Amino acid sequence: MSKPLTVTKMKQMKQNKEPITVVTAYDYPSARLAEEAGVDMILVGDSLGNVVLGYDTTIPVTVDDMVYHTRAVARGAGSTFIIADMPFMSYHVSKEETLRAAARLMQEGHATSIKVEGGAEIAQEVQACVRAGIPVMGHLGLTPQSVHMLGGYRVQGKDEASASKLLDDALALEQAGAFAVVLELVTEPVADMISSRLSIPTIGIGAGRGCDGQVLVYHDILQYASPYQPKKFVKTYADVGSTIRGAIRSYVEDVKERRFPAEEHVFAPGETRQAEPALYGAAKGNKE
Ligand code: KIV
Repeated sequence: MSKPLTVTKMKQMKQNKEPITVVTAYDYPSARLAEEAGVDMILVGDSLGNVVLGYDTTIPVTVDDMVYHTRAVARGAGSTFIIADMPFMSYHVSKEETLRAAARLMQEGHATSIKVEGGAEIAQEVQACVRAGIPVMGHLGLTPQSVHMLGGYRVQGKDEASASKLLDDALALEQAGAFAVVLELVTEPVADMISSRLSIPTIGIGAGRGCDGQVLVYHDILQYASPYQPKKFVKTYADVGSTIRGAIRSYVEDVKERRFPAEEHVFAPGETRQAEPALYGAAKGNKE
């Protein structure tokens, strides 16, 4: 297994023009599969509010939710650099609250780093975390926690004023000590311009080809949702949703038709077979 990425290695990757790969994960199996697939970093995004908790936005997600899911991800991907999202309002009230929430994600969730949405207005909080030894990733462009201020999930940086504000915010995050910045739904020329002006990596999602890395949501790559809504900036690599639905339908039919359990699934008296390695789906985790 290769060594986990570090913030220093990430900067070198930018300099060497080696793309950085990031995928979200929210639980033990998704993290384990992402690690096995060789991803550079795993983001425990607060997108879990939408994709695994069924909320319409990320706003209801709490620090407790993030700790719970990050902890499961860390059990599955102990050798991968893990970023945990700071949820809505956990880094706006005061530096003290910010540090306490960040500490919980690191100590209880076992995250390697945290991510926050916003620019110059949260630079002080970013700096406080960095000073406390917490690596911070920024997030600019479409920032879903501000969806009601932005008036919807719209592409950002379309005019000169907003492009210039995005650059100023990115520079403020870099100055505050952030190790990377996510650019979400930003026009390609603006993302290219920001990427060329920063010494830290930009990680794009719907921000074009010039970013230093790319991040996608696990459930989008896999079409793991019902109904799945296609998005222009996503490439899907599998249709897991249809596979799961079909498999469960077959199971239901098999039980109804008494085809399952079959001879090979039942225990006979005097059976010599060893105990199952894991009672249910997964093998034992680590880190706890
Ligand atoms: O929450 C999340 O998954 C994110 C990515 C979309 C970057 O912030």
